[in-house]
Amino acid sequence: MQRQLSLNVLVRPEERRRTLSHDARHGLSRTHKQIPPTWFYDETGSRLFDEITRLPEYYPTLAEQTILAERVADIAAATEADTLAEIGSGTSEKTRLLLDAMAKAGTLRRLILFDISQEVLVGAAEALGRRYDVEVHAVVGDFRRHLSSIPQGGRQLWAFLGGTIGNLVPNERVRLLSTFREQLGPGDHLLVGTDLVKDADRLVAAYDDAAGVTAAFNRNVLTVINRELHATFDPHLFDHRAIWNAERSWVEMRLRSRVAHTVTIGDLALEVPFAEGEEILTEISAKFTPHQIADDLASANLLTCATWQDNGGDFQLTLAGPQPSAASSPDL
Ligand code: AVJ
Repeated sequence: MQRQLSLNVLVRPEERRRTLSHDARHGLSRTHKQIPPTWFYDETGSRLFDEITRLPEYYPTLAEQTILAERVADIAAATEADTLAEIGSGTSEKTRLLLDAMAKAGTLRRLILFDISQEVLVGAAEALGRRYDVEVHAVVGDFRRHLSSIPQGGRQLWAFLGGTIGNLVPNERVRLLSTFREQLGPGDHLLVGTDLVKDADRLVAAYDDAAGVTAAFNRNVLTVINRELHATFDPHLFDHRAIWNAERSWVEMRLRSRVAHTVTIGDLALEVPFAEGEEILTEISAKFTPHQIADDLASANLLTCATWQDNGGDFQLTLAGPQPSAASSPDL
């Protein structure tokens, strides 16, 4: 069946290294050390994340898949979308549910996959292009910077699933949603997946599983920095930590140095000292209330059209559309 497949690489290896250099230099020179979660997802990290989604403790993936399975027909009918754009598509299992429903509704024409990891993206683009009668555009980019390169046209449904929006702090979150808003035309829609606030024990267990997969995923970011920037991190000198920050309503993943030692980042000519017990913040994963989600969307001029949760109330999908701007409203 394979039709056209286009690949647009916005994050070339050199640029990737430049951004990582910047993030590592700034993040590791601060009093409270941090590395953005973008850098988890090399080939190993993407594979480990895939493993996480199948862990008994990690409920979000299954919860979201369950909601999607029940609601895709409603989503296809409500949006009448002919173009699905998936942001941070990963391995795209959930994409299939949406594509099946759009194909069944007879509207499906085009698929746009946007992800930071080229290997994963190309694999998914090829597989989906063989399976569906669609034009496929694969864009390798960082959603913090490259969304304007998503091809326009058609009636678009943007899917930002998995709860990835929770990786951003509130002001970054609204800024990202505003960028989505700017790219969407009048009949277009955005589908966002968000994890919901729940019992702290379950939240922590989801980020600190018994099999240690999340710990390996967390430490892998140090291996990425070693490889890309010639650094000397010994991942086993760091303990994995998952903490529920109730005040900010997010889970924090950290790496805690077991001993006092110094790491050299060769390509940055940087020495990074660690005290015993000192931590690097590697990820925040915000947990929402339905009210907070609608609020964030409204702050970005996005109007909630529908919301769906799983039976347990663990996870929510929200369908939103651009709020008509006051300037274009004839009645004002
Ligand atoms: C892919 C960002 C949604 O925050 O739950 C899983 C990543 N980190 N386990 C999340 C993750 C640790 C995940 N997101």
